[in-house]
Amino acid sequence: MIEAQKKTVLIIGGGAVGAIAALNLEVGGLAEVTLVLRSNYDAVNTHGFDIKSCDHGQVQGWKASRVRNTIPNLTTESLPPYGYILLCTKNIPDIPPTPASLVAPALPPSNTHTVLILLQNGLHIHKPFLASHPTTPVLSGISMIGSEETAPGKIIQDDPDRLLIGAFPNPNLGEDAGSAAAQDFARRYSAGGKTSCRVSGDVLHDRWRKLVYNAVLNPVCAILGLDTGRLRLAGGGEVVEGVVRPAMREVVRAAGACGVQLEEGVVEEMVEAEPVESYLSPSMLADVRKGNFIEYENLLGEPLREGKEKGVEMPTIEMLYYMAKAVQWRTAERKGLVEIPAKKV
Ligand SMILES: *[C@@H]1O[C@H](CO)[C@@H](O)[C@H](O)[C@H]1NC(C)=O
Repeated sequence: MIEAQKKTVLIIGGGAVGAIAALNLEVGGLAEVTLVLRSNYDAVNTHGFDIKSCDHGQVQGWKASRVRNTIPNLTTESLPPYGYILLCTKNIPDIPPTPASLVAPALPPSNTHTVLILLQNGLHIHKPFLASHPTTPVLSGISMIGSEETAPGKIIQDDPDRLLIGAFPNPNLGEDAGSAAAQDFARRYSAGGKTSCRVSGDVLHDRWRKLVYNAVLNPVCAILGLDTGRLRLAGGGEVVEGVVRPAMREVVRAAGACGVQLEEGVVEEMVEAEPVESYLSPSMLADVRKGNFIEYENLLGEPLREGKEKGVEMPTIEMLYYMAKAVQWRTAERKGLVEIPAKKV
């Protein structure tokens, strides 16, 4: 039997995705949410969120049960462990703090009670937690949502929230622990009746499949400064033919070499994932425009390393990887984090 009573959920990261997750969980009545915010904390703490949502309608001045700007320290604050911790921040392993050290104050290394959910993109994001939190069940959350924070605390969600939950493999735990947790969380997430939350039995397949889009259109758009509609129009479609399709086929081959067979037509489906006229800016392009760091290691680096290790040639992905690395370096320089030799005249 699944427990019906409320569980506490700590959500770290209250941007476009985390805020909708928080709202949705509290609307369902089976979760009591503590939301940790950073850049939008002052705006939300004072005025609440203003949310215009295709799932929830117009919501003014909304706040989760608790809103705070630090990760709770269970020891010093004498707090009981959370039922779930939902990590909704960007996952950027090359820029500190690492996700494992970020959650540390709220998740003791020997935890067995709290279930951690990584609502983040990319491959192998659970692996660092096998070392830092070996007995914590870690779930994969793949969000397919169109949601944007247009100003601090102002969220526009124009595409329904569909969440895919599944257990990451953990050799220290029985297989059932993770899948029972996934079922329980999906039920709580669906309780409001506004969204669709499905349990997946094959997290690796789901993640590789989403990478066909994310490992290609994210960096290509971010590097070029073009949204997906303009990218498809550029050069009368030749850029898609010359760069996008070959890169996507490399990801499909790498997935196959890792034992994940993606269906015929996945490349076509991802190229045409949205109409040209949506002029959609993938998250990595949005991050570059905001001057933020990008998630290129988990989206490009991990599939590239995995594919090459299995002997798959990935020249297009490799080129994108190094160009994305240069974009990251450019951002670091702009943030004053790297020093370069003075220019000689
Ligand atoms: C919790 O706070 C105490 C006191 O400041 C500190 O020593 C400890 O390292 C914190 N715990 C974590 C995991 O950060």
